[in-house]
Amino acid sequence: MELRIAVLAGDGIGPEISAVGVEVMNAVCRKFGHKVQYEYAICGADAIDRVGDPFPEETYQTCKNSDAVLFSAVGDPKYDNDPTARVRPEQGLLAMRKRLGLYANIRPVQTFPCLLHKSPLRAELVEGADFLCIRELTGGMYFGEKYQDNDKAWDTNYYSRPEIERILRVAFEYARKRKKHVTVVDKANVLASSRLWRQIAQEMAPQYPDVTTDYMFVDNAAMKMIQEPRFFDVMVTENTFGDILTDEGSVISGSMGLLPSASTGDSTPVFEPIHGSWPQAKGLNIANPLAQVLSVAMLLEHFNLLEEGALVRRAVDASLDAEVRTPEIQVEGGAKYGTREVGRWLVDYIDRA
Ligand code: IPM
Ligand code: MN
Repeated sequence: MELRIAVLAGDGIGPEISAVGVEVMNAVCRKFGHKVQYEYAICGADAIDRVGDPFPEETYQTCKNSDAVLFSAVGDPKYDNDPTARVRPEQGLLAMRKRLGLYANIRPVQTFPCLLHKSPLRAELVEGADFLCIRELTGGMYFGEKYQDNDKAWDTNYYSRPEIERILRVAFEYARKRKKHVTVVDKANVLASSRLWRQIAQEMAPQYPDVTTDYMFVDNAAMKMIQEPRFFDVMVTENTFGDILTDEGSVISGSMGLLPSASTGDSTPVFEPIHGSWPQAKGLNIANPLAQVLSVAMLLEHFNLLEEGALVRRAVDASLDAEVRTPEIQVEGGAKYGTREVGRWLVDYIDRA
């Protein structure tokens, strides 16, 4: 297969984990005889500093003309505490989602047996937890009409029927390939937008008779996720609820540094870690590259390169088992490996497989 990949490393630890992702991709492509070509493009604070725009037109064109985007992270503290800043790195991420029409954000929550003790939840609760959060990514309050003056402000949680239908379809289809259980998460006891979500889900559910569909209010879902994470198989929800619930989901597995995600829709799909740019760790060679590497696995799987994806996942599992780990997940007294060293180990494993 021939793949054209846009690489957007972004800010903070982005470039370091991006380099590992590319090396792992190269190793897999060498092994399986795929041809891959990279186009590097700027985004986030890095792009603001260089050209004053967190998602420049040129970057958009590069993404649009690629088969996939391998994205790392954006964000810089110099923008976080300045409410007057006119442009922010995060706007680049939102612009990318909107312009590429990435309405479906797939965030898997998984546990790794050897890291169960790292979870803030009891091991017996999280063991075997394995679900997908499907977050609507281009609608809702993030993109609805906004207003702000000194005395009042609002955001509009706008959703139209086609937007709701297409994301629910994604959820039902994923469930069919998994444990056939969809949980629609909303706040239909209070919000009109949620009532429309629920109405449409109830209309669609009979088209998927093999799938069990249930409905849960978002506050209840937040609780259920930590009380009984194994309850979930595929959870589907609107943009804002999905943002909040996926951060909650990420701690179940014990480290933010482990979870990848995929965003798909009308144009080029994007694969990225769910964690941020961790500016404090920039350049220190301590960031965990595994979420980025697992994003490469999701990318390969997206193109139906299942054996390739599985090899990447095996390499990740083997590195954890061999205790080749970055500091935040290393066992007590174990050697601490750097971002690059973990990357090299993975490449070596793939080469030898
Ligand atoms: C995420 C992030 C973004 C979001 C921010 C950086 C705009 O938190 O991808 O979850 O809120 O969607
Ligand atoms: Mn978030």
